[in-house]
Formats: sequence, C-alpha cells, structure tokens
Amino acid sequence: MQRNPHIQEQLEAWIEENKGHAILGTTAQYIPALGKVDPSRLGICMVDEDGHYYCAGDTDQEFTLQSISKALSFIAVCCHYGLDFVLERVDVEPTGEAFNSIIPFEIHRPNKPFNPFINAGAITVSALLPGQTSQKKYEYLLEFLEGLVGHPLEMDREVYDSEWKSSHRNRALAYYLKEANFLEIEVEEALDIYIRQCSIKISTQDLALIGLIIAYDGFNPITKVNHFSDEIAQVAKVLMVTCGMYNSSGNFAAHVGIPAKSGVSGGILAAVPPKLHSQTYEFRAGAGIGVYGPAIDVQGNSAAGTMMLRQISKEWDLSIF
Ligand code: DON
Repeated sequence: MQRNPHIQEQLEAWIEENKGHAILGTTAQYIPALGKVDPSRLGICMVDEDGHYYCAGDTDQEFTLQSISKALSFIAVCCHYGLDFVLERVDVEPTGEAFNSIIPFEIHRPNKPFNPFINAGAITVSALLPGQTSQKKYEYLLEFLEGLVGHPLEMDREVYDSEWKSSHRNRALAYYLKEANFLEIEVEEALDIYIRQCSIKISTQDLALIGLIIAYDGFNPITKVNHFSDEIAQVAKVLMVTCGMYNSSGNFAAHVGIPAKSGVSGGILAAVPPKLHSQTYEFRAGAGIGVYGPAIDVQGNSAAGTMMLRQISKEWDLSIF
C-alpha cells in the first residue's frame, strides 16, 4: 500500500482543532519533574502495517512512559513465566478507584491485587520481572522494550529522582503489598524497579510501533518478527479496554473504543486491531497510535489527547465495538 497524504493532512488539522483542550487538564504536579513541562504540547503518531508513519504536532520530544510501562512490564513478565503464573498473582478486575488508591486493599482484602494497571498491581508485577536485583529486572525489561522498538532506550534520571523523592504513597502501597505477602522482594527494591520502568523515555513513534504490535497480537507486521503470544496480547488488550484509562475506561470504550494505556506524563499507547468491515478505508488493516499531551485530567489521562482520539476514532471508524 502507498503512503496516504490525506491521512497526514487530516492528522495535522485535528492536532490544531484539539490543542485547546489542554486547558481541561494540568501537568502531573505530584511528580515535580513532570509538573514543570509545557502543558500546551500535543503530538500524535500513527503507523500502519506497511510501516508508514504519520506524525503531526509535537512528536520530536521524548517523555517518560509512566503508567504505560505497566502494560509493557505485564507483557514482559507473562512472556517469561507464562500467563497462568502471572494471573495467579494479579487479577484482571477494574477497581473503580484512583490508580494509586489504597482503599481497595483495606476494604476488600483481596488475595491478589485487582489488576496490573493500578499501582498496587503494577508494583507486584514489576517485582516479578526476572533478575535477582532491581538493576537486573530493569535490564530485562529494557531489553524486551528495545526488542520491540528496535533501538536503545534509556531512563530519564531527573524524572526518576523526582518520583523517588516524592513517592510516599507508592511506598505506603508497597508496604501493604509486603504485609499481604504479595511482594517476594524488599519494598525499596520493588519501588526502585517500578519507578525505573515509569522513567523510561519514549517517543510517540515508538509508542505507535508498540501499539501496532499489540494490535497484531504480538506480531510485528513490518519486520515479520513475533514478540509475544496471541493469548498474552489478548489479555493485555482486555486490560487496556477495562482498566487502561483508569476511571475513564468506560467512557473511553464508549467514545473511542480502542484498547489503550495512558500515563501521567501525558502519553497514550493505543492498539487499533484490523477491522475488515470498517466504514472507511483509513487503517482498515489496523494501526498503532502514540499520543503525547502532558496536560492530564483528574483521572490521569491526557486531556487533549483523549479528545483527539475520540475524533479520530469517530471519523475513521476505528472502534472495536
Ligand atoms: O506511580 C505513579 O504515580 C506514576 N509513576 C505513574 C502513574 C500513572 O502514570 C498513572 N496514569 N495515568
């Protein structure tokens, strides 16, 4: 398939139309290094199965993965131990509480964290990453991610330090996890690997490619390399639909309908599966999407990014529902 110039023009126009929605959010103030970023940025990158990239807006700056890393460490851990092993240790149920809430623990006393996308579940999953130390666990995850994107990645040290110093709630959560016997490693080690994975720098182009691989059930249609199994991709997509946008997941499913995972840095990773009966020709064979808009709403999702995805999904009939 040829590159389609109409798609490029359309994305550029939608960036302009949606930029203003950034005023509906603010940068993540509770992590000082994220709080000081320019909130008006908005960028998007989409990639199709032939490897055509369509990028518009602010796509030249990298940002940190934050919660998007939770989907990726979940996949990496499943690849190593198998899905059953991981699902014995973390559930796949939404909580209806904020991503960093302690309430579900205290009220329900579950026998495992509710899902891998809330902080409690994500810290549990990160602690499972193969390796004796947090450094080794980090290296394992980094290598897995570099395999997906095809180039070296690194951590943003300033964001790491900033979160490490302000991570009182995550530290409290990790102590809860330890007390409940969900953590096999020490609290500080678990926090270190979790905050490291959140601080990995990424671009909208990389997110788009990872989204495409998830949309294609672990297979990269451009390089023809298989990275993970259908069954892992399927559960990852279920989690993205039910928990990926936290307490906006229902709304996002209704109005956008694309499996997605957000982060408080303002990034969104979205996986558009092929849709043969689509009402339009754009991305009928699926796509990966990476969005960056650092002004986030109260749920922790990019305010302008979410609005733009809503428009794109509607115009190009990308909803899976
Ligand atoms: O643990 C935290 O609070 C952050 N490192 C990540 C949270 C996050 O990205 C939630 N997302 N929307």
